[in-house]
Amino acid sequence: MTTGFTIWFTGLSGAGKSTLATILERELRARGSRVEVLDGDVVRTHLSKGLGFSREDRDTNIRRIGWVCEVLTRNDVVAIAAAISPFREVRDEVRARVGRFVEVFVDVPLETAIARDVKGLYAKALAGEIAQFTGVSDPYEAPLRPEVTIRSAEETPEASAARVLAALEELGYLAGAGRLPHERSAAA
Ligand code: ADX
Repeated sequence: MTTGFTIWFTGLSGAGKSTLATILERELRARGSRVEVLDGDVVRTHLSKGLGFSREDRDTNIRRIGWVCEVLTRNDVVAIAAAISPFREVRDEVRARVGRFVEVFVDVPLETAIARDVKGLYAKALAGEIAQFTGVSDPYEAPLRPEVTIRSAEETPEASAARVLAALEELGYLAGAGRLPHERSAAA
């Protein structure tokens, strides 16, 4: 039996949030946790369908994702959110509501995100075809005191995920992988 908590990834589009969320989902399941991933792109196809990218709509999207994380966390599920969540105020609001909240800033130079341009959206944003694009024509407010900062241009996703897991152990959310199962439950 694990206790729930929320891992909240924030960062520019293309920073690597979804990739990290997927690796952590796998690793945490392998350690016996129940895990649910809330990915901005996916949530916007149902729970947040119809919302756009104004500040108001983004904040609504983040409050919805945050609410689901809150419910999952109090039911002993590990919730992993992966949304740009560019505004500090609403991230901190969600943090306060969830309580057991680990903010992971996926920091990437804008030039790297533009060079990767996995979805081809930066090219369109730079050409003025998409308005209010985070990092190009809309703000991104980096966290002031994230529990973890990942520089995704400087290490592999696996190495980044390992650092998140180590931080979770250090913060007391996870028992060490090296411990025996009975030691883990004793530490929980
Ligand atoms: S958030 O700002 O509300 O947290 P969210 O993570 O759900 O954003 O969605 C971001 C994704 O929507 C991006 O990865 C990108 O694929 C797409 N997108 C479309 N328009 C924009 C835009 N104007 N700004 C940022 N992302 C956009």
